[in-house]
Amino acid sequence: MCDEIYPEQLLHWSPALSVGNADLDAQHIILLEIGRDLLELLHDGRASQQHLWSLLSDFLVISRYHDALEESILADNHCPSLSEHRAAHARAQEHIQTALLEAQEHCLQQEHLRHALTDWMKHHLSEMDLKVKPFLRHHPHASNPSDAALAKDMALAA
Ligand SMILES: [Fe+2]
Ligand SMILES: [Fe+2]
Repeated sequence: MCDEIYPEQLLHWSPALSVGNADLDAQHIILLEIGRDLLELLHDGRASQQHLWSLLSDFLVISRYHDALEESILADNHCPSLSEHRAAHARAQEHIQTALLEAQEHCLQQEHLRHALTDWMKHHLSEMDLKVKPFLRHHPHASNPSDAALAKDMALAA
């Protein structure tokens, strides 16, 4: 991973990055957007910890929902690398959770967060999700049990 990555050089979503599932694609677009906003704030250096906390909170809520949806689709489709995928999600969420707590305590280690976000933006899609694209295309069940959890998280974050 390069240490001097600027927001404009980071990954922007394009149809080539589609995983063939409209819901997951829409979430990837939003997450990349929030990730870029966060990196711009960090690069600018004048962001308040409150502003960073607010964006981090959005990122965590949406990525939790997104990761859970991906994992449920991969499980339903019997993806052989599900456990590896789950572990990568858990690691990324841990980094964001740590940054969120640090921002809350006004002791955010901005360099750590910048590395974690850059890593997520460069690897989540291209190195993880696209590799299991055939297992992400369809969800065998029409209803999604995570919807209620997202609604609850959104209410708490508001
Ligand atoms: Fe994803
Ligand atoms: Fe993923």
